[in-house]
Amino acid sequence: MEPNELIQIAKNARAKSYSPYSHFAVGAALLCRDGTVYEGANVENASYPLCMCAERNAIYHALMEGKTSEDFEALAVVGDTDAPISPCGACRQVISELFPHDKPIYLANLKGDVMTTDSEELLPFAFDGESL
Ligand code: THU
Repeated sequence: MEPNELIQIAKNARAKSYSPYSHFAVGAALLCRDGTVYEGANVENASYPLCMCAERNAIYHALMEGKTSEDFEALAVVGDTDAPISPCGACRQVISELFPHDKPIYLANLKGDVMTTDSEELLPFAFDGESL
């Protein structure tokens, strides 16, 4: 699947965001090696710390459908930002643990800007299970 197609799916997922507090809708799309794409959008709550980001929802969505990290091929994230959206620190930590370090992550905005990166670039010197 071409990056732009995955980004378009992330844009569509963004429409499912529940973000009445921030009014900042984010969409994500996680491509697996069997061609399945799992969507995620941010879901907020009046108890603000319970808000869940689009990226994590997409990854957890795939896990709940029986996929594992070895299945993950590419991740796209889209927000209405000036530059390509920058994932939050919590998502970087989760991506670092669950998304393969050698697979592409496409960060995009609604204007069509795209930055291609990977988990190690997003979170160098990550805390991981080896430290425990
Ligand atoms: N958010 C995401 O879903 N992903 C990001 O990469 C950045 C932030 C959400 C969390 C919250 O619902 C809203 O955007 C504002 O922070």
